[in-house]
Formats: sequence, structure tokens, C-alpha cells
Amino acid sequence: MTKRRLTEQEQSYNRRRSELIARCRPEYIADAPFLFANRIQTASMLSRVELFKMAMDIPGAIIECGVYRGNSLMLYLQLSLLLEPYAINRSLYGFDTFAGFRSIDGTFDPDDINEQMFSETDAEVLEQSILLNDLIRPVNRIPRCEIIKGDIVQTVPEFVKNKPELCVAMLILDTDLYQPTKVALQSFLPLMPKGAIVVLDEVAYRNFAGETQALKEVLDFNKVELKRFPYEGSVGYFRI
Ligand SMILES: C[S@@+](CC[C@H](N)C(=O)[O-])C[C@H]1O[C@@H](n2cnc3c(N)ncnc32)[C@H](O)[C@@H]1O
Repeated sequence: MTKRRLTEQEQSYNRRRSELIARCRPEYIADAPFLFANRIQTASMLSRVELFKMAMDIPGAIIECGVYRGNSLMLYLQLSLLLEPYAINRSLYGFDTFAGFRSIDGTFDPDDINEQMFSETDAEVLEQSILLNDLIRPVNRIPRCEIIKGDIVQTVPEFVKNKPELCVAMLILDTDLYQPTKVALQSFLPLMPKGAIVVLDEVAYRNFAGETQALKEVLDFNKVELKRFPYEGSVGYFRI
């Protein structure tokens, strides 16, 4: 989700929220993560908890395409460590350029986006945060969460080639864009057993049509039992 189209009320809410945040030390906020949470963040957290629980009885990897700062990936990691600490066949993989949008499509992606969007990230912070959790989790000799940097159009096909054990329990598509979504679907769908879950963060959403277009091209759309969460703006999911 970008902040391209905000109402005056939303802008004033964001200004006031920023002023309050500026009064606090980083730990003050980190230790009370809901203090400044808004409706979108709460809805997003709740939907991810529900999705994770759906994927819990399916062995294999949880893959997120489009990680940004790692908020969702780390939520999935926390849930995995809390609810299935000994699941040594659960891996979490996060794919992103960590430098913003790439492979923007001239036909299916919006024309008011650019490569700078979502570039304000620090992959090193995310990597260190994963390592921090490794210090205290059970069976920490086996990696649980890894990030793969680069354009998904190149990194995903390469990744799939080198992992004969790969079984995908849940595929989360959140690059917002047509080409990386299409490549991720083409590469990972053959590795998903019946019942595995595909999540699209921007489905049937006019501001980012690319994810939906890619889905229509890769699968027989009439056979996809697409579902949503009533409180979430644009997240859709289906089972294989
Ligand atoms: C909407 S953000 C992801 C938000 C994240 N899932 C979360 O919940 O916080 C979209 C991300 O997709 C990434 N992205 C866009 N195009 C990409 C590409 N071709 N390859 C890799 N990452 C890409 C951007 O860098 C950005 O971080």
C-alpha cells in the first residue's frame, strides 16, 4: 500500500501521530507496539495471524514476495516460534530488492509509481533482527528465516532450481506488481501441495491491478476459490 491518495483527515491524523511519536524514545514504542497502531496495521496483523493458523498444519515453507522492512515476515516468524517452535521443516523465506519497486510493467502497473517507492529500508536491520531471535529460539542450529535480496524476476527462478526439498505451505504475494507476481506464481505453484495457501495483498484492487492480472494469466480464474477478510481492504487468498 502506498500513501498516494490520502484525504485531509488522514493527513492530519498522520501529522498528529508523527508529532506524538517524535516525543518517544525508540524503546518506548518498541515495547508498546500497539500504542500508535492504526486500523490498517491492526487489520493487517489480524489477517496474518488468521492466515498463519490456516497454514499451521501444512508442512513446508512460508514464502513472502515483497518484504519491505520485514514487519509481516517478522510477525510470521514470531508466530512460528511461538506456536510451532520445534517444526524443523518450517522455513520462512523473504524475497525483496530491499531497494524499492523493480520490473515495473508499462501495461498492468500504475503509471504514477517509480523505483524509489519502498526503497527506504534497511535490510541489515532485518537480518540482525532475525539473528537476534536465533539467539533464544529452540533448535537454533537449523535456520528458520532467510531473506533473499534482488529482483524476484531473477532471484525466484534461481532459488527454486537450487532447492529440491522445497515444499511451499503458504505463498504471500505482496510486491504490488505484475511481473514479480507472475514469476513467483509460475515458479512456486508447482511446489505447493493440495490445501496450501496463496495470499495476494492487492487482489481485485484498482490502484494496483498487476497482482490480479498475473493471477488471471497463470491460473484458470474460474477454478480459484478466492476469499477475503471482511475487515481487510485488499487481501485475498485461496487454497490450492
Ligand atoms: C507493499 S511492499 C511489501 C510490504 C510487506 N509485505 C509488509 O507487509 O510490510 C512491496 C515490496 O515489494 C518489493 N518489490 C517490488 N518489486 C519487486 C521486485 N521486482 N523484486 C523484489 N521485490 C520487489 C518492494 O521493494 C517493496 O518492499
